[in-house]
Amino acid sequence: MRLTVRLIALLVIIAAAYVVWAWRSPMQGVAAPAKSTFDVAQLRHGSELAAIGNCVQCHTAPQGKPYAGGRAVPTPFGIVWGPNITPDPDTGIGLYSKQAFLRAMRDGVDRQGRHLYPAFPYDHMVKASANDIEAVWAFMITREPVRQINQTTRLAFPLDQRILLAGWKAMFFNRQAFTPDPGHDAAWNRGAYLVEGLAHCGACHTPRNIFGAETKSAAYAGGQVEGWTAPALNSSSPAAVPWTTARIETYLRLGRDDLHGAAAGPMNEVTHALAGVVAADVAAIATYVADIAGNATPERAAVAAKAVASSRSGAAPVSASDPGSAVYAGACAQCHGDAARAPTNPAVNLALSSAVRAADETNFVNVVHGGIRQPDGLGGPYMPGFADILTPAQVRDLASHVRNTYAGKPDWTGVADAWRRQSAIK
Ligand code: HEC
Ligand code: HEC
Ligand code: HEC
Repeated sequence: MRLTVRLIALLVIIAAAYVVWAWRSPMQGVAAPAKSTFDVAQLRHGSELAAIGNCVQCHTAPQGKPYAGGRAVPTPFGIVWGPNITPDPDTGIGLYSKQAFLRAMRDGVDRQGRHLYPAFPYDHMVKASANDIEAVWAFMITREPVRQINQTTRLAFPLDQRILLAGWKAMFFNRQAFTPDPGHDAAWNRGAYLVEGLAHCGACHTPRNIFGAETKSAAYAGGQVEGWTAPALNSSSPAAVPWTTARIETYLRLGRDDLHGAAAGPMNEVTHALAGVVAADVAAIATYVADIAGNATPERAAVAAKAVASSRSGAAPVSASDPGSAVYAGACAQCHGDAARAPTNPAVNLALSSAVRAADETNFVNVVHGGIRQPDGLGGPYMPGFADILTPAQVRDLASHVRNTYAGKPDWTGVADAWRRQSAIK
């Protein structure tokens, strides 16, 4: 009996100590300073950094007003809603002081003192300098305020207890500031600073553990995001032609590269945001990412040479023993090329597509199902979706044809099921 009482008392003390430790105090609300009080150069700098951080992606509803929130950010634990970060004092971040904003970006705690879910990649934002975060704050706080009430994030118990996130942070959140590596030049270091920090490339391209934290030992080995596979960017990259600084730069700025094809899905939004960023910063990002990719091994170079050569000779002819070849001829060849025709720009020969060479069918199915469309009013590569045109069995045959002929790889096993799942979503 007395032992039980003591145990309970001990647990209560531990719980109380945890709460005291995890507690973050609310911060005083401060009215947004007038735009005229900011330096124009600082605002421009903040605008650049917001584009590099692609804040608009998670903080804008489909067809919604920029930064006004309402975008579902899917996680394995449920949907976390991107909130309104326009300076509306009631529904947005209009009362955030510079300090409160800094705390949100670097500690993942909102102005009221609530711990934020790491669906907001503050584990990357924390690497940004105080100066840079201040510039982002200056930019955000001077946007047009939009009154739009936030969707409420409701994860299942116990994940809805935000106080537990303090424990998550203790285990997985590395608050260390970025330190330049003197062994590399200025462009590499600038790239590392941006990629590891605001640009948060690893948030999608690094696999996560069962607690939803990035597995640092497998950095850039590829991850899952919003129903897409973000391919490996390191030495296990599925790309037929190894990525180089110049090709990554082109891909990031134009959303497309001749020897790799276009950016689809969530990556399309990343490239649209980067399209407006100063060239030197995108070049720096490319320098660092090319270093992550490393130099191509002779084996990789041989695969690349073969893929490029086969991409020039067009597609395989239609064959009765390969039912997918007829589907390809009817639906895809006009753009991606066939035995008689080279691909019509901007489509590439599918021997060059990472989606075709990837270990899983996810991106292939997503692209064929939904096509490639650019956000409202923006130009760029277009491919129609085949959601209402092809049956699961046709897509299975098509995938088998494309995989075998263009990538020289065995069939994926889940194509028909993945197609049905996609069709069930809308
Ligand atoms: C990958 C998606 C994602 C990106 C990119 C992103 N955010 Fe967020 N952000 C979120 C989510 C989700 C939340 C809410 C988390 C929660 O509810 O716990 C959030 C919360 C916030 C908050 C707290 C808002 C509040 O209501 O108190 C601020 C401030 C913020 N983000 C600023 C930014 C800025 C600035 C950028 C760009 C540099 C950015 N975010 C980029 C997903 C993102
Ligand atoms: C109207 C032209 C057109 C048609 C028809 C078309 N595509 Fe595409 N497709 C494109 C363009 C443009 C792109 C973007 C550039 C690129 O990656 O080739 C693309 C991209 C792709 C990609 C690469 C996506 C990525 O993210 O790596 C795949 C895979 C693909 N298409 C498969 C197909 C298949 C299979 C068919 C037939 C069912 C098809 N396409 C029909 C134009 C087309
Ligand atoms: C929101 C998630 C997300 C973020 C953030 C993101 N990516 Fe991606 N990325 C993807 C997805 C998904 C794909 C696959 C798209 C496709 O096949 O068209 C991709 C594709 C790529 C590719 C093409 C790989 C290949 O072999 O085809 C490169 C290169 C790339 N990303 C680089 C970057 C860099 C550099 C950053 C940071 C500046 C970044 N990504 C940030 C999700 C993301």
